[in-house]
Amino acid sequence: LSASFRLDPAFTIAPVSRRTFGSFVEHMGRCVYTGIYEPSHPTADEDGFRQDVLALTRELGVSIVRYPGGNFVSGYRWEDGIGPVADRPVRRDLAWHSLETNEVGIDEFMRWAGKADVEVMYAMNLGTRGVQEALDVQEYVNHPSGTRLSDLRRTFGSDKPYGIRMFCLGNEMDGPWQIGHKTPIEYGRLAVETARALRAADAGLELIACGSSNSSMPTFAAWEAQVLEIAYEEVDYISAHAYYEPVDGDVGSFLASAVDMDHFVNSIVATADSVGARLKSRKRLQISFDEWNVWYLKRFEATRETTAWPIAPRVIEDCYNVTDAVVVGSLLISLLRHSDRVTAACQAQLVNVIAPIRTEPGGPAWRQTIFHPFALTSRLAKGDVLRVEMQAPTYDTARFGPVPVVDAVATHDPDAGDVTVFVVNRDQSSPADLAVSVTGFGRDFRVAESWTLADDDLTATNTEQAPDRVVPHPNGTAWVEEGELHASLPPVSWTAIRLT
Ligand code: AHR
Repeated sequence: LSASFRLDPAFTIAPVSRRTFGSFVEHMGRCVYTGIYEPSHPTADEDGFRQDVLALTRELGVSIVRYPGGNFVSGYRWEDGIGPVADRPVRRDLAWHSLETNEVGIDEFMRWAGKADVEVMYAMNLGTRGVQEALDVQEYVNHPSGTRLSDLRRTFGSDKPYGIRMFCLGNEMDGPWQIGHKTPIEYGRLAVETARALRAADAGLELIACGSSNSSMPTFAAWEAQVLEIAYEEVDYISAHAYYEPVDGDVGSFLASAVDMDHFVNSIVATADSVGARLKSRKRLQISFDEWNVWYLKRFEATRETTAWPIAPRVIEDCYNVTDAVVVGSLLISLLRHSDRVTAACQAQLVNVIAPIRTEPGGPAWRQTIFHPFALTSRLAKGDVLRVEMQAPTYDTARFGPVPVVDAVATHDPDAGDVTVFVVNRDQSSPADLAVSVTGFGRDFRVAESWTLADDDLTATNTEQAPDRVVPHPNGTAWVEEGELHASLPPVSWTAIRLT
């Protein structure tokens, strides 16, 4: 089995957007409480944040974090989370059927974000709330001083404004499960009026309208079209969400999830551009792929708890295996190759809840298998994204038809001169011989580093007892000869190779 392609600095798609390496912290399960925040933990700092989780977040290479939800945000009152903690109310979280203590609110989260060195993408509640509350949050977080809410922030949180640039105008408002679910017309109207009001406060904000919750929604694309007919000129992004899992043991289709993500992005681009054309607009919307990951959703739906009201329960703490990590690596390849339109993306979520980082209360934090392709891609994807025209055999999948066995994207850092190739082999039994021509760069290269995530046991996972059972290993087969990079890619593997 062999695969080949040619790289050339002229094949530039777009610059790598650092915001592609975003993550998501929702008040859900143990993402916040006993995830990022656990004052009684041995590693807790003076603000109650777990420093082991902070260190792993930095190592993961996260650039931006969406907060505070998710479905949670559609019933959230942001002002419950400011001021003295003892005075903050405990509320029901109807999205996840649990209790929210409000110990962590916007001021605590911004302090955590500063320590983690990440930008914040703040999601507004457009489920139970509207224009005024969105304006209030924006005043609290961004207005310098001298108004009621900015002065409250100066008292409770920070003298300086937080300077949040990206705001989500609600979350998954097309979903019947969403609190305050709306029709596209209702939502489009609310989104455009909220956007106009926010822009009156600060014209430079970057605003994200809700796209469909997933591409199998019956209203997919029609929702985007109707919302954008109303809100096109007032927003900068349309959101996309996608979760993947093996269905009925169909690993071949699962490994091809990126084909679905490609199709999803192309469909949204086509829909948004068609609205833009109808409106005679020169503006091109970007996509904020602000929830994506592997999620064993069917398992969650079968076990969903809706009677008790626990605090920070264990919810969807999926334990990821080798195949899941290869799929996550391939989804990052898909996101990168769409860097001309997908300029922000958030893996959902950061800690414990379908997350690359796992913790135990009072115990350790560790890297799940999916941590590794994310961390390596974030560290190595630099400069410009290069288009790849793959020459590889295909295999048949039940869900997506014939799919290339090998998929790849590359980046070229014009400053350092480095070229990095990110590649997956989806074949379940054969290694793939990769050949990449780099003569177009007119210079010699050598392999600076090469990492492959693969394992004889595709079900292997990282656990509290064996936190480093699955890690990437140097790929000893990668070499460059006469302008061609060669490497052997094991079956079901993800690889990154940096040439210098
Ligand atoms: O990330 C988990 C949930 O998935 C989010 O709360 C929601 O937006 C999505 O459906």
